[in-house]
Amino acid sequence: MYVTASTLTICPLQTRDIAPIQKLHSQVFGPGRFARTAYRVREGLTPASTSADTCSRVGWIDATMAASVTMTPITIGGASGALLLGPLVVAPKFAGQGFGEPMVNAALDAAKQAGASLVLLVGDHAYYKRFGFEIVRAEHITLPGPVNLSRVLAVELTTGSSANFKGLVSADNARSTH
Ligand SMILES: CC(C)(COP(=O)(O)OP(=O)(O)OC[C@H]1O[C@@H](n2cnc3c(N)ncnc32)[C@H](O)[C@@H]1OP(=O)(O)O)[C@@H](O)C(=O)NCCC(=O)NCCS
Repeated sequence: MYVTASTLTICPLQTRDIAPIQKLHSQVFGPGRFARTAYRVREGLTPASTSADTCSRVGWIDATMAASVTMTPITIGGASGALLLGPLVVAPKFAGQGFGEPMVNAALDAAKQAGASLVLLVGDHAYYKRFGFEIVRAEHITLPGPVNLSRVLAVELTTGSSANFKGLVSADNARSTH
């Protein structure tokens, strides 16, 4: 567990959090969320493997879910050891207070502790560059869905690891349960 100065308490995702997270995603992203690439990748997970994701984190203000960040183990070109970050969401009533940043930091810390060597996401470089994410070279990584290539970002957790990850992104069912 991890407590920030602004009273956000960040905990590992529990199975009971899944329904409220889905509600939060529906509230923030609406029905179009199912077309998002992170969802397309997660569609490849077996139901059992989505029950709890080791590196996913939930942020609480007292007993209210204020934020969540989902981390999905993936293979890239068949190679394991990478995670897909997303969706990251802060509940509208808690937006604008900087809660996204400790959520991403908690997820990246969890990924390092889990031994992951790369974290990939689809998002705004302007936001994620503060965590070290860089735009991936277009020819290196392919996602299972349409994507704006300038939004495909990665951060190496192990120096030089991106050289090991080239090809199509898929859910890594072998590493999704715990
Ligand atoms: C993106 C999100 C998680 C950020 O949450 P937050 O911490 O509450 O955001 P804040 O409004 O406090 O912004 C924190 C900082 O990030 C910046 N920021 C926020 N969204 C940004 C974006 N899309 N691009 C660039 N900068 C952004 C803010 O300007 C602010 O900068 P500052 O520290 O220099 O003042 C939140 O806005 C959200 O849930 N958005 C909807 C879902 C979404 O788009 N998720 C990300 C893609 S999966």
